[in-house]
Order: sequence, then structure tokens, then C-alpha cells
Amino acid sequence: MMQDDLRRQPSRVDGRAKVTGKATYIAEFRFPNMAYGYLVQSTIAKGKIRDIETAEAEKQPGVIKVLSHKNLPKLAVPTPAPDAIPRPFYALTSDEIRFNAQPIAVVVAETFEEARYAASLVKVTYDQAPHATDLRSVLGSAFVPGREQPDRGTPENAFAAAEFKVEAEYYIPIEHHNAMEPHATVANWDDGKLTVYDKTQGIQGTTGYLATAFGIDRANIRVLSPFVGGAFGAALRPGPNLIVAAMASRELKRPVKIVYSRRQLATAHGYRPESIQNIKVSADKDGKLTSIIHQAVHNTSAYENFSEGLVGVSRGLYACPNVRTVAKIARTDLQTPLWMRSPGVVSGIFALESALDELSYKLKLDPLELRLRNYADTDPETGRPFSSKELRECYRQGAERFGWSKRSPEPRSMRDGKYLVGWGLATGTWPASQAPASARVILNADGTARVESGTTDIGPGTYTTMTIIASEVLGLPIEKITFVLGDSDMPPTPGQGGSTTTSSVGTAVKEASELALKALIEAANVKEDSPFRGVAFDQLVFEKGSVAVIGRPETRRSFQDILKGHSEGSISVLHRSTPDAAERGKYVIASHGAQFVEVKVDEEIGQVRVTRVVQGTAAGRIINPKGAHSQEMGGVVWGVGMALMEHTEVDHKLGRIMNPNLAGYHVPVNADIGVIETIFVPEDDKIVNPLGAKGLGELGLVGIPAAIANAIYHATGKRIRSLPITPDKLV
Ligand code: MOS
Repeated sequence: MMQDDLRRQPSRVDGRAKVTGKATYIAEFRFPNMAYGYLVQSTIAKGKIRDIETAEAEKQPGVIKVLSHKNLPKLAVPTPAPDAIPRPFYALTSDEIRFNAQPIAVVVAETFEEARYAASLVKVTYDQAPHATDLRSVLGSAFVPGREQPDRGTPENAFAAAEFKVEAEYYIPIEHHNAMEPHATVANWDDGKLTVYDKTQGIQGTTGYLATAFGIDRANIRVLSPFVGGAFGAALRPGPNLIVAAMASRELKRPVKIVYSRRQLATAHGYRPESIQNIKVSADKDGKLTSIIHQAVHNTSAYENFSEGLVGVSRGLYACPNVRTVAKIARTDLQTPLWMRSPGVVSGIFALESALDELSYKLKLDPLELRLRNYADTDPETGRPFSSKELRECYRQGAERFGWSKRSPEPRSMRDGKYLVGWGLATGTWPASQAPASARVILNADGTARVESGTTDIGPGTYTTMTIIASEVLGLPIEKITFVLGDSDMPPTPGQGGSTTTSSVGTAVKEASELALKALIEAANVKEDSPFRGVAFDQLVFEKGSVAVIGRPETRRSFQDILKGHSEGSISVLHRSTPDAAERGKYVIASHGAQFVEVKVDEEIGQVRVTRVVQGTAAGRIINPKGAHSQEMGGVVWGVGMALMEHTEVDHKLGRIMNPNLAGYHVPVNADIGVIETIFVPEDDKIVNPLGAKGLGELGLVGIPAAIANAIYHATGKRIRSLPITPDKLV
């Protein structure tokens, strides 16, 4: 979208609070008489704790208590049997070490500094066991969790018989979310009731986790998370900080705050798993795909089967009669991985879209033309139609804006002075799911509205998007609406993840707003002289805080006027929306995108700059254009990081993450980013949900790493199949 178009669109309703510091993040909350916990982490990757020596730490000024498995108050849920897999990780509950930098004790003191210093004096001895943290060292024990996918057609035969084919291995290292805000919890037990401020993407999930762990009713727990400073999946599951802070607070009868240091964050949550993918693709001489064989393996922990299904994209992205996919996991002695922006899909697409690019050169066919020749008009797996799919238009408009037709096909054939220039593209897709969700809409007598929903806003602009939806339906200006979220006392929603919030919570807000207006009209119709008596609801127009019968301006009444005479003084409607599963089930419902990338490569020093990106996106109706544009830009920035920089380094001898900081783990900065243009291709989708909106938070990243790798090949003639594409791989 162009800057001028965007300037007219609503800005973040929470933007001012964020830039002025008025938005309170978890680590900033405090209760009176609060104590500070600091976690002690293991220095080995596997084995048992022989002893924890805490006397020295306990003697320090300000120290209140050191808790470890030796003196830990019991949870309601006993630690699962050692051989039970999968099993959740309850920190501090046993002497078993499952990963390096595992939380094994917490020092609670009057100040953060006192707790941190005393934590450094806790002495731990171990019975160490041999560990394995390198995926390549455990491939022999890889297995398929759950059921194997049956083949479509006869992929191996088709591949063997094909004239044009590619077979290659692609590698993606462990990556960490590295949000700006550290994970943190402030917990307070008071009279059997637990109040928790926690960095979380899922208020309900966190509440349920605490209820199970402590064996208390959800009604006695309140979880709040009003602002989240980036999460990207890292806060989709509760972290050790949550349970430890709550335990310490219960034990000490004081509020307890735990905030991770940047260094500690490396094991505060999971990470994008390390993956190895083998792809075989083949085509006939016309460029029609004849087979895709996609096998992937990624690491999981020793105690849970985490699988993110890298290969699913190969079954649905292109029309291909013969497909085989195998997704395996293998155990390493690291903490369990976790979903990280565009989980599974971005990794799978990196392999598939790189392989397709390789195939296009074998065929001497333009990579865009290859995609068009294999365009899936219906779902190749089931034959079902798409609810909407304007991907062809994304390719067309994206290519036009980018100037794709001016691309010279030969690698190393485009230059800008001393730089090699490369143009590459890739396709993106992301499922557009919807889950049940609830919202409450309150129309106040002063003409304002309050909308409540227990969702979170981890950065995509949920506060703003929901305000826009309520504003459109209610006919109230944005400034008259307050949307509140991040509180378990509010109507329940699923966690914010998988790009589903607008679809799920947005539908609840829309429907609750409509019901509130109906209740408002009922309130007006109590009066005999109401001009709305006997008028069908769809004959009414709601705008600027008033209602009138269409074509009869003399009937106009303001909301305030109506509510003045209303016995309750305000209207309050609680509503739970549910997806139309039967109707949705007849279709495949997904967002799509086409990403075009230009790189300039300085071959002398191996430096790659992503100078230009055009994102064509089809994600149904775009409700919050500025927010959507930001999401697409964020996806590109993330993709630049994933393609060129990001890599969690594990020292396999120590079994330890060696770059748990932003000096050693590189993410893009402003100077790394070139021009990003976004095009939204509208889709009128009546199936996806009543809003017609699909998700796009993750879609914007999906194709970028592949498109960058493909552009680098076009620039240099070097096919790099291992991320990140650092300078050493190009010189
Ligand atoms: Mo996203 S990985 O679903 O937070």
C-alpha cells in the first residue's frame, strides 16, 4: 500500500500509550510488599541434581527464601512418571535435568539485585549423563509421531520416470523469538485467590494451567496481560516463570515477581526447531509437476513429542498428482521447541519453493510461469473448492508492480555497478481458521461504548482492529469506543495464535455489536411513540451515534436520547460466536500471497542486501489497513532475519545455547531493510466468517526466506540450501 493511502487510515488506538510509556508491561506491575524471584539455571544438559547448597545464598542481605525440588511446596498435579512421554514441564519439581539452563531453583529476596546476587552463590552438584543436542547425531532414532500420511498417486515411480527433476536437502537451524519484552510474571495469593500478571498469548490457557497445577477452581484465579511486547509464539505456552512465581507467592504469602534476563530467555520458552528436509520434485517438459516427495525431520525434547508438520504445504500448494510426505521428529536434550511465527509452513515453504526454483532452471522456464502452470484451482488433496483464492491475481499484480517481466533469466546476468542483482519469488499460504470466541458490548448512556473480550494483543493491533469492527457495526466513531482485553474476568477467547484473532474474536465483536443495537432498538420501542416500532432491523441505519429509518431523517434519535429513557441506563450484551463448521467444512479456507524480492550482492565480501520487496496478499477483507500493512512489513523484516542472520548456536559438547543475547543472535535493524510494498488483493469471501476477513500475521513471512534464497541464486549462481545465508557461504 502506498504511504498516502495509509495516512488516511486509523492508527493504533494504543499507539500513544505505547510511545509515552503509559502502557504497562508485565515486568512493570507491582503489588505492595512484593518480593523478587531470580531463577537459578542448570549448567549441564542431562543428568540429576546431586545436591543444591543454598546456605551461602540464604545468608545474604535481603534474601527471604531459596526454593528448589528439595523444599518445594507440592503441586496438585504430581510430576508425571519419568517414562511418561509426553509430559508437561513443571519447573523445580524434580531433581532431573532435561536441558541446559533449566530452572532448578529460585532465590526470593527483597530486591531484584539481592535475588540475582544470591542466586550466583547457590552451589549445585550433578550426576551428569551423556547428552545429545545435535539433530544430526540422533537421526537414527527419528520417528513419525502419530499416523503416517498415505501417498497420493505413485510418487516414487513418477519421480524415477521424470525427465526434469531436482533432489536436494535443506537445512534450518534453531531460531529464537527474541521479543523485546522479557517473559515475566507477577503473582499474588490473597485469601485463597490467585492474581497473576503474566506475559501470555492465551489468558484462558494460562488460567487453566494454574487451576490444574494448584488444584483450585478457575473462578479463584485472575490472569491479566494487557500489553505484550512481542511474543511470536513464545508465549503460547506458560513458561517456568509462571508456576514458580505463583508457588513462591503461595509459600511466602507475599506477591512475587519474576523477570527473565535476556540471557536467561533462551530457555524461558521454546524455539523454532532445527530441521532437515529432503525434497524431490519432478516435472514433464511442459513444466507440469509429476511428483513431490517431501521428507522432513526436526528435533524435539526428551520429554515431549512436539511436531510442527513442515511437509503439509507440499500436499496443497500446487496441483500435482503424485505426492509423498513424511514428517519425523527426533529427541534431543534441549527444551521442547515451540511454535514461532508461521510455524512449520515457513520452513516447509523454504524447502518446497527453493526446490521449485531449482526445477525452473532445469526446465528453462520462468519461475513465475512454473507456478502458474501448476496452479491449484481446487484443493489437490481433497478436490474441495477454495472459499476464495485470489493467488493468481497476487502473482499478476505483484509481478507488474515489481517489474518481473524485465527479469533477465540467466543467473549472474543483472548488475548494478559492482553489485550482482538477483530477482526471486516465492508463494505463501496460511490456513484461515476460526474458533469460538466471546465478547461483551456495553452501550453507555453518555453515547460511548465499551467492548470487552479476554483476548490478547501481542502486537498485531488487536486493540485497533476490534475497535474498528465495533465502530463500523455500531456506527460510533472510533474515539467513542474503548476496547479492553487481556483479563480472564472478560469473555473467554482462544489464545492469540495462528493468525486467527481477527477471524475469531472479530466475529464475536461484530455479532455482539449487532445484538447490542437490536437491544437498543428494543429499549427505544418501549416508548409508544418510538419511530422504530414495526420497522425491520435492516431498515435502520446507525451512524455517528444515532439511528434512523432509512430515507426518513426525521426519525433520527441519538443513542444518548434512547438510553436516557432506558431503565437500566445502559445496554450490555454478552455473546459467544461459533464458526459455521458444516459450511466451512465444504471448502479449503486459506490466505495466499506472492512475494517478489530483489537482492544486491557484493560478491567480494559476500554481503547480501534485500533492496526491494513486493508482497501481493489475498487475505479476504482487510479490516485494519495500516495494521495489515505493518504485519506484512513485519513479515518481510522477519524473513530477512531468517534468510540472512538468525541462528541459535548450540555448543554440542556443553549442550548449551551460546548466543543467548542480541549481540550474538542477529536480527535485522532498520539499515538492513529496503523498500517494502504491499498490495492487498480483495477477496469477497462469504464462507470464512461473517467479517470476510482471513488472517495475515504469519502469511507475510511465509514465502520471504525462499524468495530471498532464490534471488541470491539468480544474482550469484550459488544455491544456498542452508539458512541463514551468511557471507561465508557466498565468498
Ligand atoms: Mo503464532 S507462532 O501462532 O504466535
